[in-house]
Amino acid sequence: MHPDLAQILVDEQAIHERLEALGAQIENSYRAHGVEELTVIAITNGAILFAADLVRRLKNIYVRLDTVRVSSYKDEDKPVSEPEIVDNIRLDISDAHVLLIDDIMDTGQTLERLVNVIKKSRPASLKTCVLLNKIGRRQTSMDADFAGFDIPDQFVVGYGLDFAERYRNLPYIGVLRPELQNPPMWM
Ligand code: IMP
Ligand code: MG
Repeated sequence: MHPDLAQILVDEQAIHERLEALGAQIENSYRAHGVEELTVIAITNGAILFAADLVRRLKNIYVRLDTVRVSSYKDEDKPVSEPEIVDNIRLDISDAHVLLIDDIMDTGQTLERLVNVIKKSRPASLKTCVLLNKIGRRQTSMDADFAGFDIPDQFVVGYGLDFAERYRNLPYIGVLRPELQNPPMWM
């Protein structure tokens, strides 16, 4: 375990076992509705690792892949503002079946805002998928259509999730030691 972590919450094997099931669930649910092509939009940077591993489990459906970049968190563990799109998707998503992917749903604001923006492009359908669903933190009526794991209200890092841009590379998800979660040591 990385020395900056207090605890591992989801280990590497558990992530990959869950992704196998999640990939099958997503594929089946679209194919059951006759959908042949999916447009996956990953929210960068946090969802990059999750999306990369998840799309490789989608083997029986065409997949188009794009990213969108939003800003909302500074180098802290609390949101500082409403999420803003700073780099938009490039694919034409009108009439496309869009699956929006993020690393974690916390308050729900990031996904709610993006869903509202993406809807304006008139996709054929729009669903959301998150690796982690943080319980008890929601400030919106948003719920992800697909989720990997429910986790308690703790600040987690790894497998795409960062604190001050660190730890995204860890292959597992862990709780950052509380004494490392605050400035000024990061400034
Ligand atoms: P929401 O808009 O509050 O749902 O927050 C979603 C975003 O907050 C995610 O894309 C993450 O970047 C960030 N976030 C929320 N909780 C955590 C956490 O525990 N660790 C790292 N990032 C988090
Ligand atoms: Mg982040």
